[in-house]
This record gives sequence, structure tokens and C-alpha cells, in this order.
Amino acid sequence: MGIPHPIPYQGSKRKLAEIILRYIPDDTQRLIEPFAGSAAVSIAAAYHGKARQFLLNDLNVPLMILWNRIIHQPNDIATGYQYLWECQHGQEKDYYTFVRDEFNRTRRPDYFLYLLARCVKAAVRYNAAGDFNQSADNRRKGAVPATMRSHIARTSQLLLGKTTLWATDYREVLEAVHSLDVVYLDPPYQGTSNGRDGRYLAGLQYDEFIDTLKSLNQGGIGYILSYDGNTGTKRYGKPLPNSLGLTKLVINAGRSSQATLLGRDVITYESLYLSPSLITRLDASSQLYTSLSSLPLVSAL
Ligand SMILES: C[S@@+](CC[C@H](N)C(=O)[O-])C[C@H]1O[C@@H](n2cnc3c(N)ncnc32)[C@H](O)[C@@H]1O
Repeated sequence: MGIPHPIPYQGSKRKLAEIILRYIPDDTQRLIEPFAGSAAVSIAAAYHGKARQFLLNDLNVPLMILWNRIIHQPNDIATGYQYLWECQHGQEKDYYTFVRDEFNRTRRPDYFLYLLARCVKAAVRYNAAGDFNQSADNRRKGAVPATMRSHIARTSQLLLGKTTLWATDYREVLEAVHSLDVVYLDPPYQGTSNGRDGRYLAGLQYDEFIDTLKSLNQGGIGYILSYDGNTGTKRYGKPLPNSLGLTKLVINAGRSSQATLLGRDVITYESLYLSPSLITRLDASSQLYTSLSSLPLVSAL
């Protein structure tokens, strides 16, 4: 049945998760995702037994409440989703608007899951008042309830009893990290580099982020960072300083769906950075050679 993925989420690392797992050392006690989103890497790591424990965090509180339900009350959330999915028939457009209003009033996790399953590009968008304002993609009805129930149940089985959930700023999470942990960082998408305000990574301060990476290095923490990349001639992501001493890998992430829609056939490449301590740990466990040589790699700098 493959690796489950209950939360549709723009920017999910679902397709790259099994490549990213190659860089998680075999002795990893705990995998930490400070920017969890749909937690594709943690789910894949649990599926392949790559870590014993997990810490998932995201600044988005309703998302983490949804995670809590998926892990601890899987039947409940699956039934909630099924109810909404069945009620929408024949009135999909208006029903989406109704659920969105109700979500903005109550922040209920079943409403949030339904919105993610039905909205444009599964992309979370909020207005200045903090209300969810993404439109429906009226070609999408959302996963059928039986499929959603199966993804939820299998995810709960993988993460139950092993997972701690937080909903705070990533820096607070990283204060609790220790040396047998591995951190997988997937900060918000930065868009293309042209014309953007380089001080921010979609809400994160670039300088603060770099300082955080420096202190992880100083603490000897092993981390994997998804950061920049390119699609055709478009590059995204402000370069990271060389002084961080990171090993850069470039992964072929497949055809860009946006470019395919526009009739162009363009491949997206995503960079993955490995911290100095992670390289040392992979080397010590003889995993380094195997993981580097098995990568569908474009370049390792
Ligand atoms: C690119 S997405 C992560 C996607 C994830 N790897 C997956 O597989 O779904 C980035 C996430 O960071 C979260 N985020 C943004 N700013 C944050 C912050 N300051 N602290 C923690 N999480 C934050 C967003 O809510 C978003 O879910």
C-alpha cells in the first residue's frame, strides 16, 4: 500500500522523502521536523524504521491540532472528513465556502482537512486577519473517504506512542535538540529570487535562520536542510554562506507541474544540504559512501 500521506499539502516532500532518508544515520534516536507541514519525511522515516521517536512542529496551530487528531483519534477525524465529503454532493462550491467560514469561526481540524483536500494546489493561504481565504479548486472533490481513512489509520499506526507535537517557532524547537537527534529542516518556500525582499524567507528572517544553522553547527547537531533549487533557468533561494560548511547535493525533483501546464517540459532540481556533524556520523557508520553513491545526483559540491 506504500507510504501513507494523509494531509494534502503544497510543498510536501512526499516524492523526495525516500531520497532524503538515505542521509539519516542508522543510529538516529529521534527525528525532528521544525517545519513539519504534512511531515512527509517523518512518515517515510517511521515506515522504514529510520528513527525511534519523532518531534513534529509547525507554527500553524490548526495544522498541529489536525496532526494530534490523526495520530491519537484516527477514526474520529476520518469520520469527520467522511461526513463533510458526503454532505458536499451536488453543492460542492457552496459547501466549500460554508466549511471555510465554519473553519474560520471554530478552527476545527476536520474542517481544515476538508479544506486542504479541496483547495487550490492544497496551498494554505490566510488574509491579514488570519482567516483562511484560499479558494476551492472545483475540479477536486477531495480524496474519497475510504482512501483518506486508510491514509489516516496507517499514519496513526506508524507514529502513535513515538511522536511529540509542538506548535511554535522553529527556533524554540531547536533549543531542545541533542546530539543523537537528526533535524530535517524544510523552511517556507522562497519563490524565485528575482525581485524578492532578500531579508525574508517567506516570513522567516534570513539572518536569524543563518544564525540558527550556525548554532546547530556549534552544538554538533546533525541536520538535513531542503533549501534552494531551480526550475529551468529560474533559481530560487538566497544563497547560503559557505562558512556554514554544508555539503550540497542536487536532486532531480522531476517535471515542474506548473511548467507542464504551460506546455513546457522543465525539470525542477532541489538542493539538499548536509551539516558537518551529519557527514561525520554518516562516515562513522559507513553510510556516507553508500548514500552518496546511490543518489540520482546532479552534483555534490
Ligand atoms: C515548505 S513547508 C514544509 C513542508 C513539509 N516538509 C512537508 O513535507 O509537507 C514549510 C512549513 O513551515 C511552517 N512555518 C513557517 N514559518 C515557521 C516558523 N517560524 N516556525 C515553524 N514553522 C514555520 C509553515 O506553516 C509550513 O507548514
